[in-house]
Amino acid sequence: MKPRERVVVFTGAGVSAESGLRTFRDGDGLWEEHRLEDVATPEAWSRDPELVLRFYDERRTQVRKAVPNAAHLAIAALQDRFEVDVVTQNIDDLHERAGSERVLHLHGEILMARSSVDPGLRYPIMEDRIPRDARCAKGSPWRPDVVWFGEPVPLIPVAADLVARADRLVIVGTSLQVWPAAGLVHEAGPAAMVVLIDPGEVSLPRPGIRHIKTKASSGMPELALEWIRSID
Ligand code: OAD
Repeated sequence: MKPRERVVVFTGAGVSAESGLRTFRDGDGLWEEHRLEDVATPEAWSRDPELVLRFYDERRTQVRKAVPNAAHLAIAALQDRFEVDVVTQNIDDLHERAGSERVLHLHGEILMARSSVDPGLRYPIMEDRIPRDARCAKGSPWRPDVVWFGEPVPLIPVAADLVARADRLVIVGTSLQVWPAAGLVHEAGPAAMVVLIDPGEVSLPRPGIRHIKTKASSGMPELALEWIRSID
């Protein structure tokens, strides 16, 4: 039997848009009425931790209410025929709930907290709110386990290795404006098939990319069907 082809699915906010979670750059430049720098930077955390905690508490409530859409389900269905790794910039858990088994969250996870002094100390958040009195093993308060602007993205080398070994890369619902995540596309090998699914005018980072200009909930199931048929 031939070894299964390796697929990397690289997703951004657009894949969760049809589950009711807002994207970052499609609207008024605000993220749920806030400027990113007021809620998603280490400076914001130093200035007003309660505002930051409240903001992410609201996002957590939204995520828990949201359900995976047809794009998340189609991505999970690819696992029947391919070796699939999902590399997501999203902090929601919709890929996991759709059934994807290997999901790498480049920008962290909204359902996890971490120590505010040691990123290695991570804790699941059982309620919608981060408990304000919770302390890590080193005695510091919990903060959301998400990557803020200006912070390192420690999983980039792991993601880069996955992309470099992929036979097929599908990029779904990302404006490719935020680095270093956007640079991952350049890690794909010269022979890799690269497809972008996004209804917007995303400037293509390299030649030879097929742009399917539709919403994820229709484009992703169609592509999954096409890919599964192509190898059956
Ligand atoms: P953006 O908001 O920058 O881009 C969303 C993309 O989704 C755009 O290209 C839209 O055209 C596309 N889109 C909108 N609706 C869609 C749909 N129904 N189906 C498919 N695509 C759709 O979001 P990201 O690229 O994910 O980082 O943003 C990257 C990072 O910037 C985020 O992870 C976050 C943010 O600041 C951090 O918080 C560190």
